[in-house]
Amino acid sequence: MEQLNPEKLPRHVAIIMDGNGRWAKKKGLTRIIGHQNGVKSVREVVKASRELGIRWLTLYAFSEENWKRSKYEIRALMDLLKRYLKSELKEMLENDIRLSCIGQIDKLPIDVQTTLWHSIEKTAHNKEMTLTLALSYGGRQEIIWAIKNMLKDVEKGLLNIKQITEERFPEYLFTADAPDPDLLIRTSGEFRISNFLLWQIAYTELYITPALWPDFSKERYLEALLDYQKRERRFGSTSG
Ligand code: FPP
Repeated sequence: MEQLNPEKLPRHVAIIMDGNGRWAKKKGLTRIIGHQNGVKSVREVVKASRELGIRWLTLYAFSEENWKRSKYEIRALMDLLKRYLKSELKEMLENDIRLSCIGQIDKLPIDVQTTLWHSIEKTAHNKEMTLTLALSYGGRQEIIWAIKNMLKDVEKGLLNIKQITEERFPEYLFTADAPDPDLLIRTSGEFRISNFLLWQIAYTELYITPALWPDFSKERYLEALLDYQKRERRFGSTSG
């Protein structure tokens, strides 16, 4: 396999992890087993990102729309998340990984919130990589939330309308401290954004692979990164 150029790695990779259900169905297994195998891919991609020196990794772990799934599947996903957070805390501390989250966290079951905030606090001073989990996340909801908070600052006299610019607006998003993603990966071959990071992906390179998320191995991740490195990023300007 071709070698990755360490100088040209994306600073921020975001991933829409899709296809756990289809993976399970193909094998005659339950959706929950699909999600369990999805967690294995999460571990592999987090580890590979850290080893490569990627500074920001954002995973779409539970969308606002996912609340429409059965109570049983939702609880199973929440339990997997809780177990993941508990089992990975040591690994995150040893590898200097800071955990962060975006989304309407107060909608999550209280036990999951407690575990999540515990890991976030424990890893708050870590520096090498930020792993952000998007939970109960929706891009449109985030934009509305940001506008409301911005208007509160206008009401308080902390901001005036002239100061509402492309540069200042992102300060009000959940992702205020993160650079925009350079690369967005979506598994399972669907050509959709599904309400993920709508504002932030304006200039992001997209990589869509037919691989289902539980099959998304380190090798497939490296292929995505190699593909990204071959692209010329112009941010709307001309080449040369
Ligand atoms: C898509 O599969 C995936 C999700 C709904 C969420 C991803 C969740 C995990 C990988 C497990 C828990 C997360 C962490 C961070 C530990 P799908 O069910 O939409 O698949 P389908 O479209 O084939 O039905």
